[in-house]
Amino acid sequence: MIAVDDKVALYRDLAQQLGGLISGERDAIANAANTAALLFASLPDLNWAGFYFLRSPEELVLGPFQGKPACVRIAVGRGVCGAAVERGQSVLVEDVHAFADHIACDAASRSELVVPLIRERRILGVIDLDSPLLARFDLDDQRGIEAIAAIYVKASADL
Ligand code: SME
Repeated sequence: MIAVDDKVALYRDLAQQLGGLISGERDAIANAANTAALLFASLPDLNWAGFYFLRSPEELVLGPFQGKPACVRIAVGRGVCGAAVERGQSVLVEDVHAFADHIACDAASRSELVVPLIRERRILGVIDLDSPLLARFDLDDQRGIEAIAAIYVKASADL
């Protein structure tokens, strides 16, 4: 586990790097691709980092990501990603085996953090992080990724 102070500093640094990478660009796919790549390359102990976009009121569709191939469509309300959309808030799962409706795209995943992308109360999709470690994510990670999601939404046009 990363020490709390280091984690806050890590996310501050990541937010700054992401601003530099995407703030001059409006393309939602290009920005998602660079955001996923930055997160996967910078955060320790991840096996998946990426986006799902809300393509209809009821369905998430896979966006840019890093990691193994993943499920393409997730209904709102299903899995951790669909739960985050339904609740309109982040979902932090310490042990995916204890989350009844977890959708296992990669059998190696043990914990998960899903943060919704929100523009003026409208949900555009989610950022999803998976880890092979139990309880890899805590509230500092959640806040850090929520800040990353806000930078992404501000920079990017709607799909
Ligand atoms: N585990 C997710 C599905 C997406 S993959 O982790 C990339 C879920 O339960 O929604």
